[in-house]
Amino acid sequence: MRVLVTGGAGFIGSHVVAALTAAGHESVVLDALLPSAHPGATAPEVPGARLVVGDVRDREAVAGALAGVDAVCHQAAMVGLGKDFADAPLYVGCNDLGTAVLLAEMAAAGVRDLVLAGSMVVYGEGRYDCPRHGTVRPGPRAEAGLRAGSFEPHCPDCGAELVPGLVSEDAPADPRNVYAATKLAQEHLAAAWARATGGRAVSLRYHNVYGPGMPRDTPYAGVASFFRSALARGEAPRVYEDGRQRRDFVHVRDVAAADVVALEAVRERRPASFTAYNTGSGEPHTIGEMATALAAAHGGPEPVVTGEYRLGDVRHVTADSRRLREELGWRPGVGFAEGMAEFARAGLRGAGAAQVEGAAPQPVGAEAP
Ligand SMILES: NC(=O)c1ccc[n+]([C@@H]2O[C@H](COP(=O)([O-])OP(=O)(O)OC[C@H]3O[C@@H](n4cnc5c(N)ncnc54)[C@H](O)[C@@H]3O)[C@@H](O)[C@H]2O)c1
Ligand SMILES: [Zn+2]
Repeated sequence: MRVLVTGGAGFIGSHVVAALTAAGHESVVLDALLPSAHPGATAPEVPGARLVVGDVRDREAVAGALAGVDAVCHQAAMVGLGKDFADAPLYVGCNDLGTAVLLAEMAAAGVRDLVLAGSMVVYGEGRYDCPRHGTVRPGPRAEAGLRAGSFEPHCPDCGAELVPGLVSEDAPADPRNVYAATKLAQEHLAAAWARATGGRAVSLRYHNVYGPGMPRDTPYAGVASFFRSALARGEAPRVYEDGRQRRDFVHVRDVAAADVVALEAVRERRPASFTAYNTGSGEPHTIGEMATALAAAHGGPEPVVTGEYRLGDVRHVTADSRRLREELGWRPGVGFAEGMAEFARAGLRGAGAAQVEGAAPQPVGAEAP
């Protein structure tokens, strides 16, 4: 099949293209090569695909890239938390207006199959159980508590300590920042498109993706890249809070494989359907464990736990990815120790540009993807 991979020059998209090629499919890439994702870089190579430099918000560029395409794998998005709220229009433009334009052009071109790069950020805080009240939904953590070093969310009814659990796809959405809101809106748009056109849509809600080709530490990057960039500068990874925040770190090659199985399966779905799948390794780890594993594989320096925090970060969120395993037969293949050892030595995208610009070390947060 021929697949349009939007954002195919990016971190995950380029691995999706490689996996599609390996599975005998053809890819066309539409990517605007955003400076935030490709700092100071010359046009990247996307081996195995035709690269169309263009924006998903541009109807003509999208229509041209869709010619002869059987399915779309929509990876293009602004990622990360951004600098501040002033970035909101850019996030909403790229992620939601861009998705709307893409879906409208798919409708016009009769392309009915979509796999969307979703995200665990749609859930906000993960699942928690109170010993007395069962499953509860703690709100955002108050700054006073964070300042005092009290990082765990408490039961909203009785204040008891909560036990974190695995979030399933049926958990209610609770986006906590602009990026999260745009990722949720992408899903709603995809579901509305499917209903209106008889299309079939799958959203893979990726957990924290890491691996070779991850962008360097910009305000738009994830925590693994901050740690990896610090180590490359010979500095200790700075771990926020107490380092016990739980996440699910899933390797980028496993995510790319999930995209391929989803693209192959989506056309068998019933028309006018939308299904979300958590996409995680199923092996939760703490942010501190990740910093330690990366530092050890890199040969030091040891991470420092700073007690700093960022408002809007969630404490724990870990996925239950059973649905993806059971319905699509996907299995993650890269274990935590093995993946982190490889990542500690792998190149980061745009790493050279950091030195040229003399970029200051960025704060290390624990943002969900
Ligand atoms: N990295 C993670 O941990 C993670 C986790 C959950 C979800 N996701 C999602 O996965 C997808 C890929 O993320 P990534 O980590 O590879 O990021 P990335 O920044 O490396 O790649 C995104 C690509 O999209 C392109 N792009 C952005 N806006 C565009 C636009 N308007 N038109 C055309 N191209 C545009 C960028 O130039 C870039 O090449 C995104 O949708 C992101 O929300 C990523
Ligand atoms: Zn309680």
